[in-house]
Amino acid sequence: MSSQNTKSSVKPLNRTFSIAPMLDWTDRHYRYLARLMSAELLLYTEMVTTGAIIHGKGDYLAYNEEEHPLALQLGGSNPHDLAICAKQAVERGYDEINLNVGCPSDRVQSGRFGACLMAEPSLVAECVTAMRAVADIPVTVKTRIGIDEQDSYEFLTEFVETVRDAGCDTFIVHARKAWLQGLSPKENREIPPLDYDRVYQLKRDYPDLSISINGGVKSLEECKVHLVKLDGVMVGREAYQNPYILAKVDQQLCGLDKPVLSRDAVLEKFIPYIEKHLQAGGRLNHITRHMTGLFQGEVGSRIWRRYISENAHKPGSGIEVIEQARKNMTS
Ligand SMILES: Cc1cc2nc3c(=O)[nH]c(=O)nc-3n(C[C@H](O)[C@H](O)[C@H](O)COP(=O)(O)O)c2cc1C
Repeated sequence: MSSQNTKSSVKPLNRTFSIAPMLDWTDRHYRYLARLMSAELLLYTEMVTTGAIIHGKGDYLAYNEEEHPLALQLGGSNPHDLAICAKQAVERGYDEINLNVGCPSDRVQSGRFGACLMAEPSLVAECVTAMRAVADIPVTVKTRIGIDEQDSYEFLTEFVETVRDAGCDTFIVHARKAWLQGLSPKENREIPPLDYDRVYQLKRDYPDLSISINGGVKSLEECKVHLVKLDGVMVGREAYQNPYILAKVDQQLCGLDKPVLSRDAVLEKFIPYIEKHLQAGGRLNHITRHMTGLFQGEVGSRIWRRYISENAHKPGSGIEVIEQARKNMTS
């Protein structure tokens, strides 16, 4: 059973299907859209650094109530700062705090956090301890299977055991290692080979831990295969580029008996949210940029995409751009 210090009155989070944290992509507009399609999936924010939360001018913790269940992903490695942020996350009503131990970007490395923390399991353990001391919600870790030449199974298990001993019982594992030098973050999501077996092995060896797999998953069918062996699947790029796959998560992966929304029904449900955003002075393209893949695979999807890309950024653009894009698909 879980040793996690969760709120006793709150039911445990359903980790069957989650959407990966993706900087610039999984902002609150995208997350609202995702939630329209599935009540069950678990959402993650983009990574927010402790520096931004503590010293930044904006409100980096803002989200829509409808997004729950929602995890805040933190980037940082200073236990004291992480505890300050974890406390704020609890106060703001987040359902989970996740520490990023997977990002290989130079900027993140120079701040001594992200994937390079795999080499410092004791520091990650200290971070987890500090956050758990102030948070009565799950504190989880998203990691890689290794970094640079440190890519043995023993390296991974030593990391996991050290962090587990600090009370983290949930790991999301991106099933490829990261090269800390020489590859861009994008290349680090494509070039190091995926090794799903290693993640399966981890679950076999640590059955009490909740292990979710991440990396390269493109369909709910693939999710089902992983779910036979693991606790959850986290999907990133496919969930963003082809968001309509989310419409069947509740039925196909979570066993709920309810109708699947059509793409047009999703669009219709999204319109009031967009209108509210526009009324508050927001730009149309800040939302539509997350919708260009909604009709992926359908006849006319390129027309939809093109019309939106060419028109939504124009000053004063409103809902009519979306309506016209939809009309153009069939005319
Ligand atoms: C645009 C973009 C931004 C990302 N930003 C983050 C991030 O903020 N935090 C993080 O842990 N991973 C980030 N990732 C990595 C994803 O969470 C995920 O681990 C990776 O894309 C592999 O999953 P996928 O093959 O399903 O996309 C990002 C990925 C992309 C494509």
